[in-house]
Amino acid sequence: MSHPDTSAAQQTPLTARKSGALRGSARVPGDKSISHRALILGALAVGETRITGLLEGEDVLNTAKAMQALGARVERTGDFAWKVNGVGVAGFVEPKAPLDFGNAGTGSRLVMGAVAGCPITVTFDGDASLRSRPMRRIVDPLELMGAKVIASQEGGRLPLTLQGARDPLPIVYRTPVASAQIKSAVLLAGLSAPGTTTVIETEASRDHTELMLKHFGAEIVSEKEGAHGRKITLTGQPELKGADVVVPADPSSAAFPMVAALITPGSEIELTDVMTNPLRTGLFTTLREMGASIEETDVRGDAGEPMAKFRIRASKLKGVEVPPERAPSMIDEYLVLAVAASFAEGTTIMRGLQELRVKESDRLEATAAMIRVNGVKVEIIGDDLIVHGTGRVPGGGTVATHMDHRIAMSALVMGCASDAPVTIDDTTFIATSFPDFIPMMRRLGADFA
Ligand code: S3P
Repeated sequence: MSHPDTSAAQQTPLTARKSGALRGSARVPGDKSISHRALILGALAVGETRITGLLEGEDVLNTAKAMQALGARVERTGDFAWKVNGVGVAGFVEPKAPLDFGNAGTGSRLVMGAVAGCPITVTFDGDASLRSRPMRRIVDPLELMGAKVIASQEGGRLPLTLQGARDPLPIVYRTPVASAQIKSAVLLAGLSAPGTTTVIETEASRDHTELMLKHFGAEIVSEKEGAHGRKITLTGQPELKGADVVVPADPSSAAFPMVAALITPGSEIELTDVMTNPLRTGLFTTLREMGASIEETDVRGDAGEPMAKFRIRASKLKGVEVPPERAPSMIDEYLVLAVAASFAEGTTIMRGLQELRVKESDRLEATAAMIRVNGVKVEIIGDDLIVHGTGRVPGGGTVATHMDHRIAMSALVMGCASDAPVTIDDTTFIATSFPDFIPMMRRLGADFA
C-alpha cells in the first residue's frame, strides 16, 4: 500500500500573487459527501445505479475502489459518469487485502458502518493524516450493534480491523458530537439489522445519507428533536433498489472561488449548480451577514438536494460573530471564512470550533497559524477563533498545509488579494477534493505560480 509522503522532496509548493479582478463562470466539482454516499448506496442496492457529476477526487476514487473490493461492480462510463451494480444489503464479500482510504475520513467511516452489518472481516487503512484521526467515535456504536474491533492502533486509530456482525442489532443512539459521519455509519449498519435503528442528534448535521436512503427506497423518517436536533428512524433490512443520482456542485469547494471573488477588488464571477441543502449553507449565511454580495438564481433540485446558480461580486466585508450552533452547517468552511475575516474590517468571532481539531489536520491551530504568518492578528480562546481584520492583509507568509486540502486552498485564496504573495508548502492534497482547483482559479484570473 502506498501512502503519500510528506517529506520535503515530494512536496510541490505554489505561490499566489495579488491578482486583477476575477471574472467568468465555473462549475466546481461534484459534492464530496454525496459522491461517497452514491457509491456506497449503489454498492448496497440491487440492480444498477447511474451517477453523473461524481467528484473524481482521490477521496472518492478510494471509496469506489473499496466498493469494488467488497464485491460491487463499479465502472466509469464517461467524464464524471459512473455505473455501480450492487450486491444488496448485507451482501458485501470479504476483500482480499486491506482497504486503503488515503486521506478520506468520510470514506473510511461510512464504509465501516456498511461493513459492520455484514459477516466479514475488513482492515481499514489510510495515509498519515487519516491514521491520526479518532475512530472510536465510529466503532463505539458499531460495537453496540454487534461488530467487533479485532485490531487497531492506540485509541482505535487506523490501521483497524473490523469484524462485522452476523446478526446486527438495531439500536437507539444519541451521537456524542454533531457528526454526519457517526450518524451515517450507524444508519448504514442499521440497514442490515431487523426492526428500527434510531439516531438522535442534538445539533442537526448534514442529511445526505437520509435523503439518499429514501431515494434508494428505504423507509426512513426524520423528525425535529429539541431546538436544533433531529431524530432519525430507519426501518432495517429494506430492499434498496439501484437509482440515478445527479451530484450537484460541492458548496464546500464553491467556497474557495466565492471568497476569492469577494476579497479581490472588481471581481464578479458565477458558480453554477451549487448545492444549497440548508444543512450545508452556513458559510453563505455568514458571508452575507458580513456584507457579501451573493445572489442566487436558477434554483432547482434533484433527489431532495436543492441547487442554484450563484453570482458573487467583490464586497467590502465587516467582522461578525458566528454562533456555535451554526458550526455543523459550515464545519469544513471555517478556514476560508477566516480568510474572508482577515480581509474584513473589525473582529470576527467564530464560536464552538472544537470539532476542527480532529479534521484532516488540527484546523483550529492551522487556521490561526495561516493567518498569523500573513500578518493578521488572530487568537484562539478555548474553542473560539477570533480574527482581528483591518481590511487588508500584509501576506508574505509560507503556510504549512499539514496534508490538508482545505488549508492549501484557503491560503492560495488569501494570496489572491494580500499585499505580498502567499506561498503554500505543498499542493498535493488539493487533489483529494478539488483536482481542478488550480487551473479553474487561473481561468478565473488568479495568479498562481
Ligand atoms: C462529512 C461530515 C463532516 C465533514 C466531512 C464530510 C460527511 O464530518 O467535516 O468533510 O460527508 O458526512 P463530521 O461528520 O465528522 O463532522
